[in-house]
Amino acid sequence: MPPSRSKLILCSLLVFAVLLLIFPSHKAYVSYTTSQLSPSSSTIKPNAVIFMLLPPSRVHQAILALYNVENRFNRRLKYPYVLFMTEDELAAVSNEDKKKIDWITEGRAKFATVTKESWDIPSHLDKSLVQHSLESIGFSTGYRQMCRFYSGFFWRNPAIANYEWLWRLDTDIEFHCDIPYDPVQRLIDSNKLYGFIQISPDADFVQPSLASNASYFLSTHSHIIPPNANLGFVWSGQSGIKKALQGQASNPEWTRMCMYNNFEISHRSVWESEVYTKFFDYLEQEGGFFYERWSDSPVHSLGLAMSLRKDQVMQFTDMGYQHQGWGYECPQQLDRCTCLREGPAKGFHDNAERWFNATELQADSWGT
Ligand SMILES: *[C@@H]1O[C@H](CO)[C@@H](O)[C@H](O)[C@H]1NC(C)=O
Ligand SMILES: *[C@@H]1O[C@H](CO)[C@@H](O)[C@H](O)[C@H]1NC(C)=O
Repeated sequence: MPPSRSKLILCSLLVFAVLLLIFPSHKAYVSYTTSQLSPSSSTIKPNAVIFMLLPPSRVHQAILALYNVENRFNRRLKYPYVLFMTEDELAAVSNEDKKKIDWITEGRAKFATVTKESWDIPSHLDKSLVQHSLESIGFSTGYRQMCRFYSGFFWRNPAIANYEWLWRLDTDIEFHCDIPYDPVQRLIDSNKLYGFIQISPDADFVQPSLASNASYFLSTHSHIIPPNANLGFVWSGQSGIKKALQGQASNPEWTRMCMYNNFEISHRSVWESEVYTKFFDYLEQEGGFFYERWSDSPVHSLGLAMSLRKDQVMQFTDMGYQHQGWGYECPQQLDRCTCLREGPAKGFHDNAERWFNATELQADSWGT
């Protein structure tokens, strides 16, 4: 007997309901990226995850960081955590530590492994050149693997592939202020795609040909670069931007300005954009993550500058966020901060105006 019409309708309704359950984030995704501030956005909890990459030797440090993050905001916001390790490293984490993490995070943290593709040195690379670079530039293979992972792979890892908002943190951090709002929601409400704390210049001796490679990429892909991209953040002045677009810029034209990205909240569309994925694929093929020590911080910053507008980025200045013993911003007159404006906080220097006040290329000189 053929199924009755009403059974068929019931059946398709059920399938639809199940699909909604499986892909609840889809609707939210559409509303963030295609519409302007919709009032409904504040009623949907952002689909966000906090993640870290760490070796087993840093588990204790990670526990302290998680405790701080929970205390300062996440016991309220309840975002899940993903802690990345390589497979053999993960096998070395004790059950005792896993239980502590479980307790502190109320069961919201899970470990995940990095994929081989995102970690192993690509087979097309010349091993003797890699060895030479390890000896001449320094920094371990593991450090370079981390830089490459963050440059081109983190958002594709299956453990976080279903989250829209990706909040990166490190293990050696401290928030000196309570955060009484949801930073991800704040980005959404202000129509931003990327949030950072600090901008500072990076060294170029570890990545001598990153800038020339970025310039070459720009010259061969200018047709996909949005005309209002914030190129002046990474290329000095009108002449620097023009040289970069012609493929003739290198370190002298590179401002070396970088988002200090051990704190970074991004919408995944930033990394999935045609510009960024092609940029990473090109860098990957050139091999500089191992032939030199290209770091994810300048790679992200060069990529942001060629794909985003100034107004798509936001700075957070009220978190008292500190990385290692470095200088950090201890906000003035905020009762919810416990930092002192002495010691490391005194040495805080930020270059955020280099993003927000970057040179803009005169319209008539685009592509000339
Ligand atoms: C890009 O980087 C690679 C690896 O360091 C280097 O061999 C190559 O010459 C660079 N290309 C440009 C255009 O700078
Ligand atoms: C922004 O740039 C203009 C022009 O280069 C300069 O006069 C101004 O001082 C800059 N503002 C800040 C906050 O750096």
